[in-house]
Amino acid sequence: MTSSSSKPRIILDCDPGHDDAVAIVVAAHTCELLGITTVAGNAPLDRTTHNARVLRHMLDLDVEVHSGAGRPMVVEPAFAGYVHGESGLDGADLPEPTRPLDGTDGIQFLIETARSNPGCHLVVTGPMTNIALALRSDPSLGDHIASISFMGGGTFGNRTAMSEFNFWADPHAAAVVVNSGLPLIMAGLDVTHQFQATAPRIEQVKSIDGQLAHVLSGLFDFFSANYSSRHDDMEGAAVHDPLAVLALSHPQLFESEERFVDVVIDGDHTRGMTVVDQRTLIDRPAANCTVLTKVDADAAWDVAAAAIAAGSVER
Ligand code: BDR
Ligand code: CA
Repeated sequence: MTSSSSKPRIILDCDPGHDDAVAIVVAAHTCELLGITTVAGNAPLDRTTHNARVLRHMLDLDVEVHSGAGRPMVVEPAFAGYVHGESGLDGADLPEPTRPLDGTDGIQFLIETARSNPGCHLVVTGPMTNIALALRSDPSLGDHIASISFMGGGTFGNRTAMSEFNFWADPHAAAVVVNSGLPLIMAGLDVTHQFQATAPRIEQVKSIDGQLAHVLSGLFDFFSANYSSRHDDMEGAAVHDPLAVLALSHPQLFESEERFVDVVIDGDHTRGMTVVDQRTLIDRPAANCTVLTKVDADAAWDVAAAAIAAGSVER
């Protein structure tokens, strides 16, 4: 476990979602979590916000949850019930959270929390709407942020042949963020597909006692069965989102390359497509993003399992 003094301070912006739920668990254990903001993405905003509150409840976390944008900046809302179920977290009986939502002002909360915690990181595991609107609303916000570590993009797609879901769901927001000039770390599909909830890894979670591990076991079963049934070649679900957290807390688990990255805004096949400039030409554009290329998946899973065990201790 990371020592308290070396833990990165983060605000987690998410759309839970099975893998966002794991990102919250991992962040609670490996980071100093300054707040959670929610966005419409995997499910409508009321569901993703409820689900974030469920995770806070199970973890007994004293962290504020604020809801943000209920729709993308320009394109029409579209959710991912085909991956996560209509609730966003199908597969387990979830406890009813007792603490109410702290606010519906997620974008303002992001701005104020980053301003009062200079040097913090934004971790983004859903469509980037909240971050783009925050950067638009407060152009000097970037002065207070050490980096934006996000799950999104990749050199192949999952929502279309060319486009990853988070970039596709709000391509205008993704374009604002990748062109922001801020330090960026990208956990795209190339690396997140290396981190799969295989049967032995789910068994590892099932061997942990406690409510959180029990709930996550059900979520992993649902998530992985869904992925395996929808792909020719996957042993389990790609657990994308915690890698954007681990990139900050456990950078030694990754290999990366410095690349110029951009996003295509439209086109039937290309809306939300990631451009990763891999040319070796001397006059290619300057890199604007640390692109994660490889993860030590077994070691990363052990960190996630330790976080689940820590969150499963009865209080
Ligand atoms: C991303 O889309 C969502 O379904 C997941 O939560 C992840 O953030 C993967 O494309
Ligand atoms: Ca997500």
